[in-house]
Amino acid sequence: MQKVASLPLPPADALAASRALSTSIGDAIDAAGGWIGFDRYMSLALYAPRLGYYSGGSAKFGRDVRDGSDFITAPELTPFFARTLARQIAPLVAMNLPRLLEFGAGTGRLAADLLLALEAEGALPDEYCIVELSGELRVRQQETLTARAPHLAGRVTWLDALPEHFEGVIVGNEVLDAMPVRLFARTGGRWHERGVAHSVAGSEGAHAFRYEDRLVPDHAVPEALHAIPGDHDVVTETHAEAEGFARAVGAMLARGAAFFIDYGFPAAEYYHPQRAGGTLMCHYRHHAHPDPFLYPGLQDITAHVNFSSIAHAAVDAGLEVSGFASQARFLMNAGITDLLMELDPSDARAFLPQANAVQKLLSEAEMGELFKVIALARGIDAALPLAGFARGDRSHAL
Ligand SMILES: C[S@@+](CC[C@H](N)C(=O)[O-])C[C@H]1O[C@@H](n2cnc3c(N)ncnc32)[C@H](O)[C@@H]1O
Repeated sequence: MQKVASLPLPPADALAASRALSTSIGDAIDAAGGWIGFDRYMSLALYAPRLGYYSGGSAKFGRDVRDGSDFITAPELTPFFARTLARQIAPLVAMNLPRLLEFGAGTGRLAADLLLALEAEGALPDEYCIVELSGELRVRQQETLTARAPHLAGRVTWLDALPEHFEGVIVGNEVLDAMPVRLFARTGGRWHERGVAHSVAGSEGAHAFRYEDRLVPDHAVPEALHAIPGDHDVVTETHAEAEGFARAVGAMLARGAAFFIDYGFPAAEYYHPQRAGGTLMCHYRHHAHPDPFLYPGLQDITAHVNFSSIAHAAVDAGLEVSGFASQARFLMNAGITDLLMELDPSDARAFLPQANAVQKLLSEAEMGELFKVIALARGIDAALPLAGFARGDRSHAL
């Protein structure tokens, strides 16, 4: 593998791990007769045991390249994200829903800060369960909880599988975007599934893999793609895994609400004819780029969320959509600016970094508009309108 212009070269041990993962992805391609769907590639690149990006040992979350990280998420940016979410969750805990379940808890920062904030709100849950695919992240989550909220760490348990029934509050920040997607390309007016094959020796530079498109018969073209009119060239994604996940949450959630926060759009925007290039994106050392075959296992691969498909899958499974809003709207409705004002603005060293981070969460040019919050619920909505959606609810757009 060669250094790619402008991106830092990984250390030798990381490159060796990436080569080992490439070998096992190559074996999967061979076993499948020379081609795998992009969803399978993404699943292996992110979650293959020990070697996938989320299963392996890379830093992932952090502020900049100096800590070896690749990207930053809202809970890592500022505790005001968790504190504001706690304001939305506290009244639900008080409705005899004293259990929380977090999917994909990253470093454990959201779990620790949510527990601390709920304690401060007088709404401490009895139990905080985490469902995490990565063993490496589980260990980090334990360390973060012990360091930031030692007196609350005993309330946290890790689940290996989804419970059959769950009553309580579910949260997942940037989890749906980390679920494998299928890629489709319309070229010459015909739909193809864009999968992954071995690169032809010498023709693909540093890469072991390349895209290979296979014609999809008209009757097998996913319904979501019918919405893209015309016959111009398009590349886009479909989200069967995230939809299956939403159905599983629907089957499990007996009473309570689930909040998923992520970047994405309703289907009409996602499959807008002008969005012809898709949303697949990779993050390596805080560089965003579109090449999923660079350093397999050492970089994040992600796609935006189709919130309509999540909502429809959840509704099919018996949930109601209780709200859908931009992150900025949700956080402002839930009181983020009041919380920030509890800091003393004249204490510039404490106030300014938090004010800047909150600004990043809210700004239209940063995370405020691209990120959305969807709430899916069963058995509670008539009792309690969710404050986070009091103004600017866009459920009608789903
Ligand atoms: C981009 S990270 C976000 C981490 C954290 N929530 C944050 O905001 O910093 C995606 C996380 O989702 C997890 N994940 C992906 N699919 C999952 C699933 N089906 N169930 C549970 N966790 C999942 C990954 O292992 C990883 O921890």
